[in-house]
Amino acid sequence: MPVNVTLIGLGHMGRIHLSKLCTFEGITVSGICDIDAARARECSEQYSVPVFPGYQEAIDSATCAVIATPTESHYSIARQCLERGVHVFLEKPITVSPGEARELVDMARAKGLVLQVGHLERLNPALTRALASIKKPLFIETRRISPFTGRSTDVDVVLDLMIHDLDLVLSLSRGIVKDLSADGICFATDRYDTVNARIEFSDGCVANLTASRVAGHRERSITIYEEKTTFYVNLMQGKLVTVTSTGNEKTDITEYICEQMDPVKDELLQFIMAAAGNCAPSVTGMDGLKALELANRIRDHIAGKHGAAH
Ligand SMILES: NC(=O)c1ccc[n+]([C@@H]2O[C@H](COP(=O)([O-])OP(=O)(O)OC[C@H]3O[C@@H](n4cnc5c(N)ncnc54)[C@H](O)[C@@H]3O)[C@@H](O)[C@H]2O)c1
Repeated sequence: MPVNVTLIGLGHMGRIHLSKLCTFEGITVSGICDIDAARARECSEQYSVPVFPGYQEAIDSATCAVIATPTESHYSIARQCLERGVHVFLEKPITVSPGEARELVDMARAKGLVLQVGHLERLNPALTRALASIKKPLFIETRRISPFTGRSTDVDVVLDLMIHDLDLVLSLSRGIVKDLSADGICFATDRYDTVNARIEFSDGCVANLTASRVAGHRERSITIYEEKTTFYVNLMQGKLVTVTSTGNEKTDITEYICEQMDPVKDELLQFIMAAAGNCAPSVTGMDGLKALELANRIRDHIAGKHGAAH
């Protein structure tokens, strides 16, 4: 069966997706669209792909859809795709509300369609290398900070950036969330731009997460502490450093550099293969829902402290 992929939303992420999709063999980019008609035309000319005035028309000729619009529109666009029998790759966060996400998950399941979410760090080769050795995390520390870009301000930093790390932490921990505390600061927008959260799991693991979109530099890292080994992953550089206790107050430090990192390409390839029935998606709609539920617990906790919802 031919694989016809449509791409909805041609902003920062959408154009990255388009540049990858156009290199895949055996698939056709059957159409693209954006409410910014000039942007859509420009991309259509650059990549020689058909352009449609709206996503309803773009879906008509598609078997798969990649949705990279602002989060507040994810639910309505994904829902229409699923209703029309189209497999969906949805950028993170899955939706604004868990109720919407649950509906999409149920609809995809009932129709036997793939619903994959763009938590691309799961495919980071430095992390997957670490995962092969990680047994029982005791502490997890994540940092995801960037200078202000002005993008994704329709959501706060928990849904914008921290959601990636919530997905990672949930995929690493063997327990369920027992308790959490968090705080946040509004800085450049009227939503939380910097948030720190501490999550305690029922198996004793504690995760400490910091996300900021108003920092002075860019950093994406996760450190996983186990009884005898520490795994530091620089997610941007694809670098893994392990520190192992060798006894007698001595440690061994080993560094691995993973080359050829292209997580967006990898997640899209996996989506296409999952839609063809050749594998399971790396990050399912249910994973996206769980990360969103935890994100909302953090946001509610902060709002409860400050007496306002952001
Ligand atoms: N996976 C990642 O690492 C990552 C990184 C950045 C952004 N994102 C996610 O990607 C999504 C888009 O973010 P962005 O930074 O590309 O935003 P952006 O503002 O740069 O682009 C969004 C685009 O969608 C278009 N659009 C809006 N509503 C539309 C509609 N109804 N139909 C068609 N087009 C529409 C806009 O005109 C714009 O071109 C967000 O959900 C964001 O959270 C993911």
